[in-house]
Amino acid sequence: MEQSEFALSEREFTRIRERLYDVAGISLSDAKRTLVIARLSRILRTRQLPSFDAYLDFLETEGSADDAQDFVNALTTNLTRFWREEHHFEHLVGYVGELMKTRLSQSQKRLRIWSAGCSTGQEPYTIALSLLAAHPDLRRWDFKILATDIDTNVIAKAATAVYPDSELNGLSLERARLFERTGDGRVRIPQPVASLVSFKPLNLMAAWPMKGPFDAIFCRNVAIYFDKATQGEMFGRLGRILAPGGFLYIGHSENLGAGGAGFRLVGKTIYQSRLERAKDAA
Ligand SMILES: C[S@@+](CC[C@H](N)C(=O)[O-])C[C@H]1O[C@@H](n2cnc3c(N)ncnc32)[C@H](O)[C@@H]1O
Repeated sequence: MEQSEFALSEREFTRIRERLYDVAGISLSDAKRTLVIARLSRILRTRQLPSFDAYLDFLETEGSADDAQDFVNALTTNLTRFWREEHHFEHLVGYVGELMKTRLSQSQKRLRIWSAGCSTGQEPYTIALSLLAAHPDLRRWDFKILATDIDTNVIAKAATAVYPDSELNGLSLERARLFERTGDGRVRIPQPVASLVSFKPLNLMAAWPMKGPFDAIFCRNVAIYFDKATQGEMFGRLGRILAPGGFLYIGHSENLGAGGAGFRLVGKTIYQSRLERAKDAA
């Protein structure tokens, strides 16, 4: 990590932690001090501010909405990759196959999936690539994937649908073939696949403009940054926007905690919305 000319006092670290928690629900542990210094020092240098206190004062008094967003963008952790925790995509393919049979007989060719905390897009694109490869008929369906993140930088990057070809390292040949080559060391998600995904900035801690219901929600490796109370509340909200019998996929080190009442565990970090609860709520 780069050295910084700025020292971070206990008081400044507390102010930063409180601001990030209030805005994004993210709890920064003590171990994140070095990361905070490195990420925010860049902003201090650009703005020619003498200290973290001066930066926080600036945000609180004259900072614009963009400045507030830069603060959050600098402090999120966006690690992701294609086919991360791949058993989720195998489960989704099977579930959507079953759902297509039922909906076909009911002439309801509609499928909605939400990738909540999508980072640079690998997760929603993996959903789209996996489902179209397994179920080509989905091209004729009303099929949409909503992909959201609080970090506006990652959303902008995701929307380009272009990645360095090193992103394909470790993928099978069969999966690597699903990408287009740009000819300059990068790969692109083919347009018919990319067009299924809409990227939007969205803070999971704020109001959600969409109503749902979603047939499946991926919210993986997002809640690890929240405290238990925030996690429970958020998973409870996700349960209420999921269709009856729909699935919620979470990260391998996460659990639903107090938000788990409306779900049953059906596989490793895969939860199904309990039909009875959904019926009660309707
Ligand atoms: C580690 S990435 C996980 C990406 C992907 N879901 C995966 O599992 O590979 C976590 C993402 O959650 C986002 N995030 C953190 N707090 C958030 C919030 N309050 N609302 C929406 N997104 C948030 C971060 O910006 C980051 O991109």
